[in-house]
Order: sequence, then C-alpha cells, then structure tokens
Amino acid sequence: MNYNPLFTFVVILAIFITLQSCEKDNETKISSYNSSESHKNGENCMSCHTSGSSGEGWFIVAGTIYNENLSSTYPNATVKLFSDTLVVDLVATIEVDNLGNFYTTQNIDFENGLYVSVVGANTNNKMLGKITSGQCNSCHGVTTDRIWTK
Ligand code: HEC
Ligand code: HEC
Repeated sequence: MNYNPLFTFVVILAIFITLQSCEKDNETKISSYNSSESHKNGENCMSCHTSGSSGEGWFIVAGTIYNENLSSTYPNATVKLFSDTLVVDLVATIEVDNLGNFYTTQNIDFENGLYVSVVGANTNNKMLGKITSGQCNSCHGVTTDRIWTK
C-alpha cells in the first residue's frame, strides 16, 4: 500500500481537531457564592448538562434551593455531601449561586450512596435517605417538595 503523506497528515489533523472539540464539551463548571451564570431554576439540569446533550459542562451534582415557602429561590446557601455520618465524612461542598442554583462537574463517587445537607443562614436541612444520583431536581419539585432553606 502506498499512503500519501499529506493525506495521512490531514486525516490525523482532522481526528485531532475532532477530539479537541469533543474535549471542549465538558468544561469545568462549578457554582460559587454570588455568581449568576446559571439559569432554568427548578428544572433537572442534567436533562441537558450531560455528555451528548446541549448544556455546557456535564454536571455530576446540580439543583436549585428555594426559600421556606418554596416560592422564590434562596441564594448563596451551601450543599454538603457526606459518605457516612452527616458530621465528619465530608465528600464535597458546593456553593449555591446568587440565583439559588448549584452545579459541579467535579467527579464525585456515588457508588455507596451519599448523605446530603443544605446549609442556609439559619438552618441546616438534612435528607434522611442516601442519594445515588446528583440530579437533585429530578426528584425535588417533581416527586417530592422543592429543596429549601432559610
Ligand atoms: C433545556 C436544557 C438546559 C437545562 C434544563 C439547563 N441548562 Fe444550563 N445550559 C444549557 C445550554 C444549551 C447552555 C449553553 C448556552 C447558554 O449559555 O445558554 C447552558 C449553559 C449553562 C451554564 C454556563 C453559562 C456560562 O456562560 O458559562 C451554566 C452554569 C448552566 N447552564 C447551569 C444550569 C443549571 C444549574 C441548570 C439547572 C438548574 C441548567 N443549567 C439547566 C442548557 C440547559
Ligand atoms: C431520588 C430522589 C431524590 C434525589 C436525587 C434527591 N433527593 Fe433530596 N429528598 C428526596 C426525598 C424523597 C426526601 C424526603 C425524605 C428524606 O429526607 O429522605 C428528600 C429530602 C431532602 C431534604 C430534606 C428536606 C426537608 O424538608 O427537610 C434535603 C435538604 C434534600 N432532600 C436535598 C437534596 C439535594 C441537595 C439533592 C441533590 C444533591 C437531593 N436532595 C437529591 C428525594 C431525592
């Protein structure tokens, strides 16, 4: 067989560019206090922010926090994930943004399930059951109440 070196180069270049653009789809996106880059309060963020979907960044954990009467969003709370007890075994801390949304693309291991707590200025709400998925808004606001704090 006789390969044209230029053709080979172009093919390799094309593969490289394709890989680069795939790479771009999963950007590091982590919410922080007072930021306001998010949108779509209450929706399941991972219906779009997953590999192969339209949203920028593939979220591992994401959702929305509301105030006590579940009507408007609550900004700048903190979401904490724990592996065992809800005190010492902290796995991740996610800052909620100014719009009440939180999200992270960081790799978090859900294999053994994780406990969740949501810390506001005056309360610390804990979920009793363990979660095996970070798609908080797939349950909250759908099959159970919205997540809230005060
Ligand atoms: C219906 C699809 C869809 C849903 C649901 C969705 N997003 Fe997005 N998101 C997108 C798309 C598309 C973009 C990129 C274009 C844009 O900024 O609108 C994006 C962009 C973003 C960005 C990046 C903005 C930037 O400029 O860097 C953040 C942060 C974000 N979404 C957070 C969230 C959060 C948090 C949720 C859930 C509360 C969510 N998204 C739900 C489609 C969605
Ligand atoms: C599979 C569905 C499901 C997912 C996913 C889920 N939750 Fe829950 N959550 C529930 C249910 C059901 C309850 C009520 C029973 C309990 O506490 O276990 C609850 C309760 C809570 C509570 C306590 C509510 C209260 O009124 O005191 C908080 C806080 C909470 N969840 C936060 C979260 C956060 C944050 C996430 C994502 C990191 C999340 N949940 C993911 C189903 C879910």
